[in-house]
Amino acid sequence: MSRPIHILGLGANGTESLSERAREALNAATFVAGGKRHLALVEPRQVEIFAITNNLNELATRLRNRGPDERCVVLASGDPLCYGVGVTLQRALGSEPLEIEPALCSLQLAFARAAHSWQDAAIASIHGRPAPPVLIPLLGKPKIGLFTQDGSSPSAVADFFLERGLDDYRVWVCEDLGSPTERVTRLAIQELPNRRFRDLNFLVLIRNESDGSRPGFTSRPAVPADDEFARPEGGPVLLTHRDVRSIALNRFADVPPGPIWDLGAGLGGVSVGLANQFPTREVVAVERSSTQLEYLRENRKQFEAWNLRIIHGAAPAALADEVAPAAVFVGGSGRQLDLILDLVLSRLIPQGVFVANFVGLENLAQTLVRLRLEGWSPTVTQVQISPGQDLAGLTTFVPLRPVWIVQGRRPT
Ligand SMILES: C[S@@+](CC[C@H](N)C(=O)[O-])C[C@H]1O[C@@H](n2cnc3c(N)ncnc32)[C@H](O)[C@@H]1O
Repeated sequence: MSRPIHILGLGANGTESLSERAREALNAATFVAGGKRHLALVEPRQVEIFAITNNLNELATRLRNRGPDERCVVLASGDPLCYGVGVTLQRALGSEPLEIEPALCSLQLAFARAAHSWQDAAIASIHGRPAPPVLIPLLGKPKIGLFTQDGSSPSAVADFFLERGLDDYRVWVCEDLGSPTERVTRLAIQELPNRRFRDLNFLVLIRNESDGSRPGFTSRPAVPADDEFARPEGGPVLLTHRDVRSIALNRFADVPPGPIWDLGAGLGGVSVGLANQFPTREVVAVERSSTQLEYLRENRKQFEAWNLRIIHGAAPAALADEVAPAAVFVGGSGRQLDLILDLVLSRLIPQGVFVANFVGLENLAQTLVRLRLEGWSPTVTQVQISPGQDLAGLTTFVPLRPVWIVQGRRPT
């Protein structure tokens, strides 16, 4: 019968932070694993040392095969079960052999320094992983705790939020927590770009208008009424009718992973709907009119559609550097249909979904012919909305112009 594996959390002050139980385990150890920083803090002698780099599988195998008399200790920072080595080892070895002694977690210390509760915060980590998929679901959350990668992370995170119109956060950058060099800087999110911090840091972000205690997003209508959208006064209402938007959004089913593009987003009726329907993805709205753009930004804010990134420009040039989309929406193509179809056919990923609304017969026909030539099997639906209207006390129906909704999936 093998002995338990002790996973000991260390604070920045090293062995001082160890409990009596942890100290005993460390003193009796015959095998000590830890990152370079942890091993330097503890300086274990006369034992087998295992330096953790990116070799956790190897460590798990070594621990699984430990001899009956071996006393194994793994060093971690803070709470090993909070984005730490404890999580990986628990997955690899199960809970049974593990005895875990946490120290204070950087998360706890950071929220303590900011004097805000953290039980209601959204907690995430961009340490050792690509940031965008982690950050997108956090956009707009009232209170966020974020483990970072290095000294450039606070500025990069601020850029990511600001680029999407989120400029109302207070941020606490908490460096070297628990050590003599600890420093906590509180600033507005706009003050962060281009500033560099020490590599060990944790971010607390709290939205200004709240005390951070609202749970998550407030409820957002998937398909808001037309008159809830900001729009130019007296200007043309370039908005897809609410009922048509409902059906068009419904056509985005079984979309493979990846971003979604809205080409010619206008005031953002469909963009906002897509952003709300796919809250963990990025929706990229392209709009070339600067007047529309202003309202598009306003509508993003109005409907808290923070995962909507707005690009000022014209397709296809404006999208040249973008990641290939998993779905594309086109809400009318002006005189550019050929170019738009070229773009969709060249960039949409296999099994990706294309949805387009048309009011002109020629555009509909051109699209169907082109897609069929490319081996697609598009569907088309005629949507004819007739809102009820009072006529001298009687209800009558006034038909709106029909819209054709095309949906197709790119063959593999
Ligand atoms: C892999 S996570 C480890 C978290 C650890 N299990 C804990 O409980 O704090 C590494 C990240 O934690 C944060 N971190 C760890 N120690 C820190 C410290 N002393 N001061 C500030 N942030 C720290 C940094 O964001 C760092 O990139």
